[in-house]
Amino acid sequence: MCGIVGCIGTQQAAPLLLEGLSRLEHRGYDSAGIAVLPPAAGSAPRIVKRAGRVRDLADALPKRFAGRVGVGHTRWATHGPATDANAHPHTDASGRVAVVHNGIIDNAAALRARLTDAGVELTSDTDTEALAHLIGRSGAETLEAKVADALSLVEGTWGIAVLHADFPDRIVIARNGSPLIIGVGEREMHVASDLAALVRYTTTVAHLADGEMATLTAGGFTTYRQDLSATATTPTHLDIEAAAFDAGEYDSYMLKEMFEQPAAAERVLSGRLDDRFGTAHLGGLGMDARETRAVRRVKILGCGSAYYVGQMGATLIEELVRIPADAEAASEFRYRDPVIEPDTLYVAISQSGETVDTLLAVQEIRRKGGRVVGLVNVVGSAIARECDGGIYLHAGPEVAVASTKALTTMFLGCALLALQLGRVRDLSVADGRRLIAGLQALPGQIQEVLDSEQELVPLAKRLAEAESLFFIGRVRGYPVAREGAQKFKEISYRHAEAYQTSELKHGPLALISPAVPTVAIVPADELVDRNVGALHEIAARGGPLVVVTHREVDLGDLEGREGVARIDVPRTERELDPILLTIPLQLLAYHAASHLGLDVDKPRNLAKSVTVE
Ligand code: AGP
Repeated sequence: MCGIVGCIGTQQAAPLLLEGLSRLEHRGYDSAGIAVLPPAAGSAPRIVKRAGRVRDLADALPKRFAGRVGVGHTRWATHGPATDANAHPHTDASGRVAVVHNGIIDNAAALRARLTDAGVELTSDTDTEALAHLIGRSGAETLEAKVADALSLVEGTWGIAVLHADFPDRIVIARNGSPLIIGVGEREMHVASDLAALVRYTTTVAHLADGEMATLTAGGFTTYRQDLSATATTPTHLDIEAAAFDAGEYDSYMLKEMFEQPAAAERVLSGRLDDRFGTAHLGGLGMDARETRAVRRVKILGCGSAYYVGQMGATLIEELVRIPADAEAASEFRYRDPVIEPDTLYVAISQSGETVDTLLAVQEIRRKGGRVVGLVNVVGSAIARECDGGIYLHAGPEVAVASTKALTTMFLGCALLALQLGRVRDLSVADGRRLIAGLQALPGQIQEVLDSEQELVPLAKRLAEAESLFFIGRVRGYPVAREGAQKFKEISYRHAEAYQTSELKHGPLALISPAVPTVAIVPADELVDRNVGALHEIAARGGPLVVVTHREVDLGDLEGREGVARIDVPRTERELDPILLTIPLQLLAYHAASHLGLDVDKPRNLAKSVTVE
């Protein structure tokens, strides 16, 4: 979604801002703009903004665009369409203030009406423009006070960066619900909404907290609350290389990230397995044995693919721990006024740690006195900080919109949680050890599936030709089917629908035809016969089949039949099946989209992290 960059120091700002914005492209956006304060004292900020890509903005920049202080933005349209006028930065009536903003101002309509009544001519449809006018009209003396003044009138969420011609030695930033990270450089300071835009310049960073503001000058930064009282923020050094944010030798980030899954799986498990007691150690949960044993139910919350992995995790937890566990879309959760139970462990799952729906679900649970732990990838993110405890997934930076390696680590995070919860209840040491052996073998088995990539390409091309597809599975396989359909539709723009195999006869079978292929998840488990039976029903109606299965599964007379293909994945412990069954579905989606000539890393209309409701 929207992205913010800003810099102040000794270098020319425009090239740094453009580079930073290009690093935020993966977040999804439809227009971009920058504002720079020219060197001549008292000059108003110069602004260039364009609907379209960052390269359109770069083409539109005049040759001379000097200035060492600037802010930039990529916009994902919410209030008003993607036009030059609606792109950020926005200014006040005098043109001396420039504001970039992530988030949504809930009372924008009322603020805009008030401004219009006061004779202000609004030039865009956006909520942000109102904020720029409020800052410009504030009678306060300092830029910090003007921004605080304006924010006191605003309801909603924001991450903002503000320039002002009368205060050319500073950028003022503020956060409430939309992330902002300060980057500390050599005689220059940076700000960005995503680490990806900072790492080329510095890995010394400070995360702004909700309700906090900061002033950046060339020499340093100070942080304070909205009442301008000081806060103490110490920058930390991140052990991360800029190359982690590059696609390197790969054609796309998604391909790179799929192939990073074995390493990511090793990292999330590393140091957390205890073979002696057949358990996992998750100190970050902050729960002792008594508290862990008191858990009577597990409720997992996440959005999109994180929700589907949550479903895989809930099935796994229920099987191993023998307490009820389920997953729910975090985006729906708080709207049904949920009953929060003291003996339920709530688990928020999120790669970015910034998905607003998941964040609001966490806040709702905590407000009602529930305990929430997080399975989060991005260190220091809002969800990680908001939870009572949790574990980091250590997947490394994930840039592609389609999540792959983070999902794998989410599933493994659930498996670790199941081990810890199970071993304080009735899960035996032997079963714990069985699971641990399975988990330890997974990185190598994931690699095995990835090594079969080229065999899947012709199948992916065939699937890409269909306008519409089904993905089916049962119990452990159903969330795999949901995730497979999600990945396929997300990047290939084909209609892909997931169904429980058992539900086929209750409706969707009517759609099966030679033009509608089905990708079926058929592990060698207790449901294999029923699943194979359903395959026959599909084949009898001429429906092409791709069966994701285990070598041991006998497809009977479907074997080798025209229109029927199989993909075999290695056997693991049955509870861990979902993750290995998921990997070929990622590859199918990737190669289908590539075959269609689509940009797999930046699917249309989608954003990497969804920071608005
Ligand atoms: C995954 O491929 C999707 N891009 C999307 O469903 C994603 O998983 C969802 O938006 C949740 O994101 P999060 O993990 O950052 O919270």
